[in-house]
Amino acid sequence: MTHMINIQPRKPRFDLSDVPVFWNDGDPVLTRFFDALSIHFPDGERFFIQSVRNYQDLVTDPKLREDIKNFFRQEAQHGIVHDQYNAVMQSQGIHVEKVIARFKLFIRLSQKHLPAKYLLAMTAAFEHITAVLGEGAMEGEGEMFKNAHPAMRAMFMWHGVEEVEHKTVAFDVYETAAGGGISPAHLL
Ligand SMILES: [Fe+2]
Ligand SMILES: [Fe+2]
Repeated sequence: MTHMINIQPRKPRFDLSDVPVFWNDGDPVLTRFFDALSIHFPDGERFFIQSVRNYQDLVTDPKLREDIKNFFRQEAQHGIVHDQYNAVMQSQGIHVEKVIARFKLFIRLSQKHLPAKYLLAMTAAFEHITAVLGEGAMEGEGEMFKNAHPAMRAMFMWHGVEEVEHKTVAFDVYETAAGGGISPAHLL
């Protein structure tokens, strides 16, 4: 069902000029976990937008139509900001482009060979995961980032808040405009 949370797109700026290599508490594991997410976010989020866009014209509920627009705005902005951070990582010697090239291939093949409804179901599932991660990011007022570089902490907190705000949009589109269903037969 369409939820009543206000989906508010924001355009914050983050000063990433002095982000250290291990920006999360000097801890390689705590840092690279989030770096791995960041590498996949921009193309993943563009994939989510496209998967919902395939069904946008079939959505009749005015609230959901509005939610979709704000979902697009939020995800597009996440992509822009994570691209900026990924460029910082690249400049620090991480092979960001190599990982992204493989991920783009996965997305291209998925879009070529899977039905639109399947892509939307994937999007709803991934949006569930990002909302859970977002909730985790906010837990204890950002406990996971308590000793992180302040701009990185702010970036992941902002992203987390917005993932929670728009968490039901792809699922609502799946359930209404795409016909819904939970068995593999429904995905084709
Ligand atoms: Fe996002
Ligand atoms: Fe999202």
